Amino acid sequence: MSRSTPHISRPTLPRSADLLVVGSGIAGLSFALKAAREGRVLVITKKSRADSSTNWARGGIAAGLGPDDDPTLHLKDTLATGGGLSRPDRVEMVAREGPDRVRELIDWGVRFHREGGRLSLGREGGHSRRRIVRAGDRTGREIERALLAAVAASPEIEVVQHLMAVDLLVEEGACVGVTALDPGDGEPVELRAPVTLLATGGAGQVYRHTTNPTVATGDGVAMAFRAGAPVANMEFVQFHPTALYPTRDPAFLITEALRGEGAVLRRLDGAPLMEGVHARGSLAARDVVARTIHTELARSGQSHVLLDVSAIPEDQFAVRFPGALEGCRAQGVDPYEEGIPVVPAAHYFCGGVVTDEWGRTRIPGLFAAGEVACTGVHGANRLASNSLLEAVVFSHRAVLALQRARDEGGQPRQGWPESQVEATLRLAQARLAGSGTSAPSEGLDALRLRLRDLMWASVGIVREGSGLETALEEIEEMLAAAGDGRTVEAVELRNLLEVSRLVVASALHRRESRGLHYRSDHPEPDDAHFLSDTVLTRG
Ligand code: SIN
Repeated sequence: MSRSTPHISRPTLPRSADLLVVGSGIAGLSFALKAAREGRVLVITKKSRADSSTNWARGGIAAGLGPDDDPTLHLKDTLATGGGLSRPDRVEMVAREGPDRVRELIDWGVRFHREGGRLSLGREGGHSRRRIVRAGDRTGREIERALLAAVAASPEIEVVQHLMAVDLLVEEGACVGVTALDPGDGEPVELRAPVTLLATGGAGQVYRHTTNPTVATGDGVAMAFRAGAPVANMEFVQFHPTALYPTRDPAFLITEALRGEGAVLRRLDGAPLMEGVHARGSLAARDVVARTIHTELARSGQSHVLLDVSAIPEDQFAVRFPGALEGCRAQGVDPYEEGIPVVPAAHYFCGGVVTDEWGRTRIPGLFAAGEVACTGVHGANRLASNSLLEAVVFSHRAVLALQRARDEGGQPRQGWPESQVEATLRLAQARLAGSGTSAPSEGLDALRLRLRDLMWASVGIVREGSGLETALEEIEEMLAAAGDGRTVEAVELRNLLEVSRLVVASALHRRESRGLHYRSDHPEPDDAHFLSDTVLTRG
């Protein structure tokens, strides 16, 4: 992809709004659609409006809507996956409110698949029921399409593309908007609003192999951390077991729903990979499957394993998994000829900016929703297809909080009490050289690639203390060398480095294995010392 920034002359660039939204995925757009009842909404996005992780989501959105299902079972499955760190009150809320949020998506025009008039529900790992509402294996694309159409029809919402937020504007302790990078001349512009929602998505681009789009550079987490907001659980990075091999950038995700319909992971010699590893076989939790593939590749020296789809009738494959078929064909793979070659790739950050149950961060006026947030739902391991759900539930609750504040004549900018979150680690502000224009000693692209290789090798599926320490030193060095240039590429690089530093510091702190975080030097969970969130604040 080209990462050059188009010159856009924009004489009418709005400089203020009642509500500012940073990011145009499901969290940002669903918030904007509801918040439009409260005032003028400005949505900014650093690329074009559909460049979001939502657009790439394949599986679907989990909700207890089936005849044999209910929110209590969804709650139970989510807690069982979360490694002891999911907050039962938050999960209960998401499971209970989720079905209504899915109905709202349908009202906004999302066309989920139906069978006999009812929603067709898929199964994914860790779910005890068929619960995944989907649109083939391109669910995110359908949601994004419908939300963008609804936003386009809403006169209160303005979407400005190719405008990258660089830092939060904080005055007297409250967030009053952002500074953004004018792509025309690289000068910072101030966008002011009494309420800002961070909906910038995740940070998969810190890894060499990722299913995340190139925009997923952790901008929201880095901005919030720099502004002093607590950030939690950054060590819990989900690696999806089945990205199409060889991986491209981003890697093509082969949906877990295929394994939900009977596809089986095999070694290259044909032996079933997960036999004897886990009772649920190929549909075991993602961390277990990804680690088994990682170990198998290290043992055998092979480059990939195979997903055998022969249990799924060929005519159904084409109808239910058109995305997988298209992705395979684009890489010259016939799924029924040889199986689908797959490897794990970084997929989802469970950690992020800490919020309360209304999506409020510690900084008054600043909300966060979607992958950028740490709401307490995912804990140490995210249950498949819970992320789109969490995003819509918290965006909705953020709007409710604003309405409540308005009705009570109070301040929508209220934060929550300091006492709610204890810092585990305080990290000093990253050292940066320069005065606004300095270029790195090494090219930006070269540094970005070096970081992604380092994170993949030392902070990936299996981690170990001395490798993490060396990685942290190298990241600090790269931060000092990154310069402070004012281009999208330079800001993204600094954010990637900042987020990587948070991941490594958290992973070093957690001297145990839990959920998605596996340390070969501490392979067991240690509840006595680590049954709690890792909360980072700027020292
Ligand atoms: C998938 O389709 O396998 C991904 C779904 C998710 O990450 O929740």
